[in-house]
Amino acid sequence: MKALLVGGGAREHALAWKLLQDDPSLELICAPGNAGIAEVADCIPVKATDIRGLAAFAERADIGLTVVGPEAPLAGGIVDAFRANGRAIFGPTKAAAEIETSKRFAKSLMAEAGVPTAAAQHYTDADAALRAASAMATPLVIKASGLAAGKGVVIARSSEEVERSINMMLRDCVFGDAGSEILLEQFMEGEELSIFAITDGTNFVTMLPAQDHKRLLDGDIGPNTGGMGAYAPVSIATSLLIDTVSDTVFEPTLAAMRRLGRPFTGLLYAGLMLNDDGPKVVEFNCRFGDPETEAILPLMDGSLLDLMMMVASGESIAGASPLLWKREFATTTVLAAHGYPDAVRQGDVIRLPPSPSGVHVFHASTVRDNESGQLSTAGGRVLAITGTGRTLAEASQRSASYAEKVTFEGRQFRRDIGKRDLERDAGAA
Ligand code: GLY
Repeated sequence: MKALLVGGGAREHALAWKLLQDDPSLELICAPGNAGIAEVADCIPVKATDIRGLAAFAERADIGLTVVGPEAPLAGGIVDAFRANGRAIFGPTKAAAEIETSKRFAKSLMAEAGVPTAAAQHYTDADAALRAASAMATPLVIKASGLAAGKGVVIARSSEEVERSINMMLRDCVFGDAGSEILLEQFMEGEELSIFAITDGTNFVTMLPAQDHKRLLDGDIGPNTGGMGAYAPVSIATSLLIDTVSDTVFEPTLAAMRRLGRPFTGLLYAGLMLNDDGPKVVEFNCRFGDPETEAILPLMDGSLLDLMMMVASGESIAGASPLLWKREFATTTVLAAHGYPDAVRQGDVIRLPPSPSGVHVFHASTVRDNESGQLSTAGGRVLAITGTGRTLAEASQRSASYAEKVTFEGRQFRRDIGKRDLERDAGAA
């Protein structure tokens, strides 16, 4: 079978790796891919957001399954376009993707479905937002309602920061349309957790929970990023907690999407906050998380491809068995470019030593010069290094020590991925 994978980051490299593990005879084509994906699949120079170009390619190449990595093509209606051509595609329709692309829609959906989340109010007018915010306690979360490339959330800790953030979004329009409506949301204390569910719209199976590390620097300080690392499994994600999240989050959310006539198919990502009040939803995403996917997939036993094919072809997954996981741990360390997350520099030469066993190297923003074969940086997050091991300490050590050996000018990475569980382990010992 021929499959098309849309995207070109480390998440897509991990997906490519897993799909080819599941079926080594799969003819995999990636659009646009990256230098690492090009080692395992054919890459075509079609942008992930070029829906017409991708749909035309899928017709010409008679693609049997399309898997979409990033949110932008989903927001642009790639699933609707492929389905109109009768092509199997894994992901939600444009209307269902609004669960990520409109934070306002997600909030009203959660209110209707009784899904636990922080209280929020929405505004399009800066004066009205400022008036309302002046009566609210800090920290206050200010969120652009639309897609803002992972930068649309500010946790404002002072009234000055609240004012600055509201003005930045509603008056200075730094996020354009994505920030033309904002949410003022109660801040939630606690520990974050990501849980993914693969769903046919009604039935779902949950994947191994993971924890992302969004701040740039060790100790969870510095600016927010797209994610500097992740680990799985997470000790606080007990089977009881997963059952609670299934019952109080996934089940009612999917039911509400069906009631609205927007059944959600594909992968639903619940970003959760855990505290003594139980799990609450911070955000939904309509696609695999990055870098959580790079940590989760190396631990997965059984076929992701078969499950994706069922969902993409509109089959029920009611009879699908729960997913099976290796009894191991995985830690992913992201190597980012000079200046990330703000003024990213590109074109730094990467030296990548051979990877030892227990280490997966997933490329994010890399390019290879056709003539010299030289690998260089081509964006903010450059590589994701996943170490696996029988303990989290072993997985983290493998990931960090290989990351240390990869060199490029201006390289940035965190050396404390998994620290919460490593500290809990140390405390328990
Ligand atoms: N790990 C955060 C995200 O994928 O949005």
